[in-house]
Amino acid sequence: MKSKMCAMFGVDVPIFAFSHCRDVVVEVSKAGGMGVLGMARMSPERVEEELNWIDAHIGDKPYGIDVLMPSNFDDSSAQKYNPDELLPKEHVDFVRNMLDQAGVPPLPEGEADQIKREIVKGINFTPSESLAMVETAMRHPIKLIVNALGSPPVELVERAHARGIKVGALAGKPKHAIRHRQAGCDFVVAVGTEAGGHTGEVSSMVLWPSIVDAVAPLPVLGAGGVGRGRQMAAALVLGCEGVWTGSLWLKTVQSEVTPEIKQKMFEAEATDAILTTSVTGKPCRTLRNRFSEAYEAPGAPATLPAPTQNYLWWQEGRTRVERVRAKEFLTYPVGQIVGEMEAEISVREVVYELLNEMLESRERLDDLLSDE
Ligand SMILES: Cc1cc2nc3c(=O)[nH]c(=O)nc-3n(C[C@H](O)[C@H](O)[C@H](O)COP(=O)(O)O)c2cc1C
Repeated sequence: MKSKMCAMFGVDVPIFAFSHCRDVVVEVSKAGGMGVLGMARMSPERVEEELNWIDAHIGDKPYGIDVLMPSNFDDSSAQKYNPDELLPKEHVDFVRNMLDQAGVPPLPEGEADQIKREIVKGINFTPSESLAMVETAMRHPIKLIVNALGSPPVELVERAHARGIKVGALAGKPKHAIRHRQAGCDFVVAVGTEAGGHTGEVSSMVLWPSIVDAVAPLPVLGAGGVGRGRQMAAALVLGCEGVWTGSLWLKTVQSEVTPEIKQKMFEAEATDAILTTSVTGKPCRTLRNRFSEAYEAPGAPATLPAPTQNYLWWQEGRTRVERVRAKEFLTYPVGQIVGEMEAEISVREVVYELLNEMLESRERLDDLLSDE
């Protein structure tokens, strides 16, 4: 395709795949798109391991990495190994009581501290932690760094450019996109509210063209709600140079999602992908679950600021829940396209289906516009 984004990375199709799973990253790049590995949930050692694996399996195809460098953040990472100091008792009790009442067993005594330590080691959300991961990643042949929750620091953009690495950033409003352009980004990802994970309030249909106009001629990728070829065609028609996708890959054979969570996704409707601060402290679109519902109930405490809420959820909630796969509490970030997820298919089939339906959309438009 003649998109600016294909030219920028030498890829066949402008399908960018955000994933926390290295297998998805490699498969998408091999299928002609561009895989981007999300590193926010990895320890520095794991980053090295994952990138070595990608380098060994991806051949000559390009790939990128994604980090979170939020512009406004409560940097509690230094205290993350001291949950007793960091997490207010009222909040810890709220989560513990909820799980006790639901019969979810506590972590085994004697192992709990070690389990929690290992968990928080892999939560790297703060600007300083993200920069450390970028340092590691720059020793690998990455072609792209994408930043979420703020503009990347100008020095980082300059260092990346000096190594031939492109830089992009996620935006939920035109003013964010303009800031990214000022920071030197090579493109912007316009993320509509439909998206899985951290997202804003404006829908893709409204946001995409407004960001395209705000930063032109800088290329824009449309994100949020791209689950099929018709939606990809819409992004291109609205002025985007390609799509940035996340939820779409969760249903694949290769994805990191456990069978129980996948099954919940296949049963879910679009409205089950709710925007909640209960997971990270920032609005994050996630599969509805008993934990998020408890925070919406009258009398529930307000969620903690990011990333403290995230430490609370992982240390007190998620580890307990996932050990026994307690279905009602199981959750994962996912966008509104979850309502259309029905069965597991391979990454390659997803790419094929996207492209086929996109081409059918072009034919439909041609028919509608033809004189005959
Ligand atoms: C499971 C999951 C985790 C995500 N984690 C991150 C993240 O760590 N960093 C990031 O920039 N975006 C993250 N996102 C958001 C994606 O980058 C992307 O904006 C979004 O998935 C696009 O909308 P879609 O889900 O409708 O495809 C995540 C999305 C999902 C589904």
